[in-house]
Amino acid sequence: MSTVPHPSVSTQDQLKALAGRAALDYVEPGQVIGIGTGSTVNCFIDALAASGMAIAGAVSSSEATSQRLRAHGIAVLDANDVGELSVYIDGADEIEPGGCMIKGGGAALTREKIVAAQARRFVCIADESKWVARLGRFPLPVEVIPMATQRLIRQFAALGGTARVRLRDGAPLVTDNGQHILDVSGLSIDDPLAFESMVNNWPGVVTVGVFAHQRAHVCLLSTSQGVRTVVFQPG
Ligand code: 5RP
Repeated sequence: MSTVPHPSVSTQDQLKALAGRAALDYVEPGQVIGIGTGSTVNCFIDALAASGMAIAGAVSSSEATSQRLRAHGIAVLDANDVGELSVYIDGADEIEPGGCMIKGGGAALTREKIVAAQARRFVCIADESKWVARLGRFPLPVEVIPMATQRLIRQFAALGGTARVRLRDGAPLVTDNGQHILDVSGLSIDDPLAFESMVNNWPGVVTVGVFAHQRAHVCLLSTSQGVRTVVFQPG
């Protein structure tokens, strides 16, 4: 683990911008890269555009990210038209010392997992508030097919979790894939790999927001002291 000092960084927005800029070191001109979703990723996209580095294009994890990329003149490519990606850059809602994450606060978890699976390396960009000893404080996002909602709420309750349908403007939020999101609080996720596999097997679950099979290889964690680079052991 190494830390690059940076003077007087304090607010969370500044920390997100710092992590976003740090990810430029993991991109090379001419590459096709995978890009996630969220406010930290937006900082990365803006930094990439400001850097003047020309990449061949990006595979995007959401409509929101695609819009931002296009606004900067960065080509958005179809995942099916490109092979393995050298790198996938994305944020997280929580990341633990093994590189496992909770993701989906931006409701883009399914496409995020697809693009992450297509990349050789997952670089997670996060501010220090996202670092946890154990996953589970952040309500776990789960993308679900609406007809399974009530049964899945009962299945989570049997694990001690309280699941709520995520709302937007008073109605269930509809994801880019036309599905709904459950946010589940009160879970204890001691074994992220086993938990992810178990919930993914429940009928009606599209994607669970535990990223253990697609965990991060590197985390660029911005702190008030600078960016700490955490490299995870291969699992
Ligand atoms: C979106 C995500 C984001 O990576 C996660 O919510 C972190 O977002 P932010 O950078 O805005 O804090 O998983 O689905």
